[in-house]
Amino acid sequence: MVQVLTESQRRKWDSSDDAMFYAEPRFVHHLDAAFRQRLTQLYRERIPTGAVVLDLMSSWVSHLPDDVAYASVIGHGLNARELSANPRLDRSWVQNLNADQHLPLESSSVDATLIVAGWQYLQYPEAVAAELLRVTRPGGQLIVAFSNRMFFTKAPQIWADGSDREHLAYVAEVLMAQGWPTPTVIAEQTRAPGLPGLIGAKGDPFFAVIATRPG
Ligand SMILES: C[S@@+](CC[C@H](N)C(=O)[O-])C[C@H]1O[C@@H](n2cnc3c(N)ncnc32)[C@H](O)[C@@H]1O
Repeated sequence: MVQVLTESQRRKWDSSDDAMFYAEPRFVHHLDAAFRQRLTQLYRERIPTGAVVLDLMSSWVSHLPDDVAYASVIGHGLNARELSANPRLDRSWVQNLNADQHLPLESSSVDATLIVAGWQYLQYPEAVAAELLRVTRPGGQLIVAFSNRMFFTKAPQIWADGSDREHLAYVAEVLMAQGWPTPTVIAEQTRAPGLPGLIGAKGDPFFAVIATRPG
């Protein structure tokens, strides 16, 4: 594994156990409707029917299109009640990735991994990226999506101090350092739904880094 971050870049304001921060379920949307719609559209375009999907750092929603059937959707997160309320998940497990980055999954067993508004909390993203390369099937993809907000006290310094553009470059750099090929990057403004959007109201900006394991 190739280290990218310095120890100080991994530090966060609130260094207490992340499991405590997520102990109570949050049945809220972390991203607005415009962002979620754009994300679901991306999944529809990118993830084939019948794929094995891993929703890493998930909650009670996975943002996958309702009408597409996948072979299985495996969920991971920090709150068991949120995960058991997520209707898309076939199974799930709880694991603090800042304490243990080893994923309890077979090598080359996943077609598409999703991380939504989660990468920004990883203190050891290099180890997670290396694990994701291991569990992804040749030709499979990793889709890391995020917007411009965060739980500030829980984001490591590298993210808390960075601009949107720096976040995109940072995710790509960590992935490539672990052997992922150069990813595709999406950076888009979204439009608020309904009338406000028609008269120019904007939604949460949409950012994604998409990497494909060589086939
Ligand atoms: C803002 S929520 C996003 C949840 C979900 N992906 C969504 O789109 O609503 C951040 C998520 O990151 C995950 N997370 C944060 N810190 C984590 C940690 N140390 N280990 C594992 N997962 C973590 C939790 O699953 C948490 O729900």
